[in-house]
Amino acid sequence: MKIIRTANYEEMSRKAANIISAQVIMKPDSVLGLATGGSPEGIYKQLIEWYNKGDVDFSEITTINLDEYKGLPRESEQSYWYFMHKHFFDHVNVRPQKINVPDGTNPNVEEECARYNQIIKSKGGIDLQLLGIGIDGHIGFNEPADTYELGTHCVDLDESTIEANKRYFEKKEDVPRQAFTMGIGTIMQAKKVLMVVNGAAKADIVREAFFGPVTPRVPASILQMHPDFTLIGDAEALSKI
Ligand code: GLP
Repeated sequence: MKIIRTANYEEMSRKAANIISAQVIMKPDSVLGLATGGSPEGIYKQLIEWYNKGDVDFSEITTINLDEYKGLPRESEQSYWYFMHKHFFDHVNVRPQKINVPDGTNPNVEEECARYNQIIKSKGGIDLQLLGIGIDGHIGFNEPADTYELGTHCVDLDESTIEANKRYFEKKEDVPRQAFTMGIGTIMQAKKVLMVVNGAAKADIVREAFFGPVTPRVPASILQMHPDFTLIGDAEALSKI
């Protein structure tokens, strides 16, 4: 595990964007596992800026997003499909047919999970997986549990996750109670894993996840065992380690 401490959110975003750009420059047809949330927003902004300058080209990449709310159609402003297009895809030359996000509207959970697992398998797995972390230690939407789920699955969201994510919705009742997420096995099989974390609210979970025992009760803790895991955090998020 490598930890990079940055002064603030902007520096965190720039450093992470640098790693992603290097990945795409070295391997133009990279499979990038992408994440939503406030933490990676700055990375996407930076990547768009470098794309506009001609420094990085996304035309050959494949993207595989981590998760999606169950029941939300793509057009919904709160869907992760929408988030990714608004903050990244619509501004760069990634090919629409190479974008993958779980389909939150598929009522057949088993079929959707199998479909998504098959996509990941057919691309040969993920070269670089970008992650944020939830305050309960979730990655993607892998919530604290008794065991690790390996492949794509549908989860019941924790109360703390619903609480944290309600800021994107008009009211808390509008937050979906379930979501599709890539599994821990898939994340652990990514060749490189890059996590960004910022803000004082994440300081406790960073200490617990990366300096405490490895347990599915703190899903992100498994990343301690990943052979190529980099954590980039701002001063506040890393203040307790
Ligand atoms: C959501 C996403 C996660 C993300 C987490 C933290 O629940 N499913 O992938 O890491 O929120 O979000 P934020 O970066 O906004 O704190």
